[in-house]
Amino acid sequence: MQEIVDKAISYLNSAKPFVMPTETVYGLAVDAQNELAVQEVYKIKNRPKLNPLISHYADIEEIKKDVELDQRAIDIFSKLSPGPITLVLNKTKNSRISNLVSAGLNTAAVRIPDCEITLEILRKFKAPVAAPSANLSTELSPTQKEHVEKSLAGKVDFIIDAGKTKCGLESTILDLSSKKAVILRFGTITSQEIEAVINEEVYLKDDEGKLKAPGMMLKHYAPKTPLRMNAVEAGENEALIAFGEVDLKNGFKEVINISPSGDLAQAASNLFSVIHQLDDKAYDSIAVVTIPAIGIGLAINDRLKRATRV
Ligand code: TXA
Ligand code: MG
Repeated sequence: MQEIVDKAISYLNSAKPFVMPTETVYGLAVDAQNELAVQEVYKIKNRPKLNPLISHYADIEEIKKDVELDQRAIDIFSKLSPGPITLVLNKTKNSRISNLVSAGLNTAAVRIPDCEITLEILRKFKAPVAAPSANLSTELSPTQKEHVEKSLAGKVDFIIDAGKTKCGLESTILDLSSKKAVILRFGTITSQEIEAVINEEVYLKDDEGKLKAPGMMLKHYAPKTPLRMNAVEAGENEALIAFGEVDLKNGFKEVINISPSGDLAQAASNLFSVIHQLDDKAYDSIAVVTIPAIGIGLAINDRLKRATRV
């Protein structure tokens, strides 16, 4: 492990992007202070420059140097981190996060990922590491090394393999840069869990939220094969993603159940890898059964909607 950590540090120090695992999805990592390195990340991903990046840290002491923490932020980091939650906060006067990372905004997105090797790299680097998901812009996020290789073939030469990611969906993004706490992106940490920690109402992504998270445009996370939701019967040459006891085998070319027991966390963890898997085959379309829109189901439905390309 030490060898890999040292290699990652040398990549960070020489402005060379590499891929690091997290508990959510794999990230394309660079030093968040280095504009040239950050520029390279936007170029590799073909990502619009108005879509800011998340900076990753090992602990709250380092985060404090770059963004203003109020009591709510301190409570969230103490109780829910390391974990799949990203906070949008106001940058400090001497913030190390480059303007390119925050896309010229006065705010920045920060998180502490729950993945041992990556935490070790961050502990040793002692500075913010910017890392968007390691896929081309608008494609599905990678939840295992092979997905990264498929999307970024020939564009990165160092991918740290930690197997399939635990959560399988990108982190929940919570905006705490103003008085109201607003969820900008659903994830495996739910609004109820956040409310229990900060003792105040959490607002869900509204029009204001959409504007504030420019990256949350539709047509994100889309596979190449057309995908449709709430399927009840099979189409021509179609595969099905099932959930729980729902079983619509009739007529589908292939059926994969992302959680036969009806566990939403398990379904979230399997979702992207199953879509990746079916997308590699020659089906005309992928159908998905109705997934309950509660708790983590909100995040699953959000990602499915984006994947439908309408
Ligand atoms: O789970 C994750 O968050 C993964 C792993 C690698 O950490 N990262 C990830 O990054 O999903 P990315 O670049 O695919 O998504 C970052 C999102 C974008 O939707 C962007 O608009 C939002 O974070 N974001 C970043 N900075 C922001 C800011 N200052 N205000 C509002 N939204 C921001
Ligand atoms: Mg992404």
